[in-house]
Amino acid sequence: MKQAIQQISQSVAGPMERFREVYSTSLQSQNPLINQMVAHVKESSGKQMRPLLVLLCAQLCGEINDSTLHAAVALELLHVASLIHDDVIDESDERRGKPSLLAKFQSKTAVLGGDFFLSTALSEAVETQNLAMVNCIANMGKALVNGELLQLSGSKNAIYTEENYFNVIKAKTAELFRTCAVLGAISVSSQAETIQTMARMGEAIGICFQLKDDIFDYQENARTGKPTGNDIQEGKMTLPLLSVYLQASPAEQAQIKQAFDNKEVDYIRQLVVEKGGIDYTQQKIAYYKEQAIQYLHTFDASATRNALEQLILLVANREK
Ligand code: FPP
Ligand code: MG
Repeated sequence: MKQAIQQISQSVAGPMERFREVYSTSLQSQNPLINQMVAHVKESSGKQMRPLLVLLCAQLCGEINDSTLHAAVALELLHVASLIHDDVIDESDERRGKPSLLAKFQSKTAVLGGDFFLSTALSEAVETQNLAMVNCIANMGKALVNGELLQLSGSKNAIYTEENYFNVIKAKTAELFRTCAVLGAISVSSQAETIQTMARMGEAIGICFQLKDDIFDYQENARTGKPTGNDIQEGKMTLPLLSVYLQASPAEQAQIKQAFDNKEVDYIRQLVVEKGGIDYTQQKIAYYKEQAIQYLHTFDASATRNALEQLILLVANREK
């Protein structure tokens, strides 16, 4: 995976390097506890797929500039902030196969750590010197909160429809990918049609990403860096199970609901596999992957377009 990402990054290798520099500089602090938390987050840094998407989209639509870089940093910081807060909300001890900030620093400190990343994201948003971009970043933060709240109320009030599910994943995941693509485009182009196409492509990629993530939760052998069955434990009915649930008879639905409420992970996992919940979700991934590629192909062929296509395929086909 890391190797595939590296290969895709090649066409924006220089800007990716500068991204890392700006990212590190932005997080400098006089506070030793903050420095410890920043060091911990950096040790378990992810694939940096979102900044990569910003840079590739910018390069597809024009020439990468300082605004592009600051936007990429702002979005990565906002992403990290949301994961730190998410682990506090979900009481999750693990992130990317390592102890979460929550596990290492306790919840009060971890919340403040998340706040630091969020505030740093705001500083970086300002550095773009582009109010339209600042506005996009602010709206994206609100969408993340909205998605998280929708998910919380979804798991309590149990309104299980496919529409609700897609609303949640659009807000909590796809909006961020959409914003990456939009900000990449806005930083270098003012063509409304170009920006709109990038927005649609970004959203489709984000949906693929979350659908895949939701499949991982049902896989026996999790190479995802986190234990399987998490979503069931957290009371989240995601598409693999939801699709099976929605096709079941009322009596079966009651049975599934009971097993779900009792967190019978093994039973539910087996049911989902047998009744085609994974296959159904894969079909949706194939649909959104195709959509993303169609939007991308409205641009002329180039090395950058090819790299973006590889990124789409990676998101859709990844095994972790
Ligand atoms: C991971 O979901 C969490 C998110 C995608 C977003 C969380 C958003 C917030 C906590 C709102 C805070 C927002 C800001 C701007 C700081 P998950 O729990 O389904 O996935 P996981 O398995 O990676 O934990
Ligand atoms: Mg979580």
